[in-house]
Amino acid sequence: MDEDSSSMRAKVLSILRYATPLLRLSASRKLLGLDHLEVYVKWEGGNPTGTHKDRAALAHVSRAVSEGATTVTVGTCGNYGVAIAYYALLAGLRAVIFVPRSYESSRVEEMRRYGAKVVLVDGTYEDAVEASARAAALKGWYDANPGSGRDSTSFQAYSRIAREIVAELGDAPYAVSVPVGNGTTMVGLYLGFLEAYKEGYATRIPRFIAASTSHANQVVESWLQGRLTPVEVPPGKVKETPVNEPLVAYRSLNAEEALRVLYETKGRAYAFSDEELVEASLLLRAVEGVSSLPASSSALLALREFAREEVPEGPLVAVITGRWLRKH
Ligand SMILES: Cc1ncc(COP(=O)(O)O)c(C=O)c1O
Repeated sequence: MDEDSSSMRAKVLSILRYATPLLRLSASRKLLGLDHLEVYVKWEGGNPTGTHKDRAALAHVSRAVSEGATTVTVGTCGNYGVAIAYYALLAGLRAVIFVPRSYESSRVEEMRRYGAKVVLVDGTYEDAVEASARAAALKGWYDANPGSGRDSTSFQAYSRIAREIVAELGDAPYAVSVPVGNGTTMVGLYLGFLEAYKEGYATRIPRFIAASTSHANQVVESWLQGRLTPVEVPPGKVKETPVNEPLVAYRSLNAEEALRVLYETKGRAYAFSDEELVEASLLLRAVEGVSSLPASSSALLALREFAREEVPEGPLVAVITGRWLRKH
């Protein structure tokens, strides 16, 4: 790449900013038993590659450029890898994406279309992350994996979701519900609300609600067992499906920080079956016209559960982390 085009690309990256819509729910509230409440969805499906992972990917690729890296790598089941491939292409970097072989059919074609090299790994998501991190250490590539020591970049990128919510509502909501896999997104949102509170833009920090799959997630399993530190989830307990794969994790890479957020905000955690996730997604589409990835609809279901157990004292927000991207 010549110097002109590389400095143009760096400029494009530096001015790229996305603000996703905050949508107030109407008819679906009654069907969910939330009709007496002010409920919003923060629609992250509006990001270019369809999920909130665009935010972290843009931040990491920009950091890779500023560190002078020429290759960026990540282990992924799909969404994060597509986002990294997309922004690497924009920035003129090479992307090497490690994907568990069992997920080859998910979003791998899109990664390749954006010019990424895809390495198929025999193993789980956690194995793909390990393979990517090992390759990064060996070859001097930029490591964009959760747990790489660069988590602050992802946290900061996701903190903007919170800042946008505060800007639209004029305050923080009473509670915010977030789909949880590694817990990175939830921790980032917490830091954003904390910052808004400290700067005087919000009068409270919301209560955090973790939403995940009943086929095993370390953050939710630990919370449900009343543990402040992550419990061991035997890998055999995990059942990955095309519906739950963004959420399933026998080892959540930001579990400790995510659990701290739940305890500090008097939060709660809930887990849902694939059938419930798909149903919630269909409901959002049919009644509100909102496209949501079934895994991300867990956030809406978790609000329903929360309101069954407590009387919320203000607006509720479900972060819908992705739009419906593929056939299940
Ligand atoms: C659409 C979607 N929602 C939620 C998550 C979970 O995010 P985190 O791993 O930051 O908890 C993911 C992770 O891949 C995802 O792709």
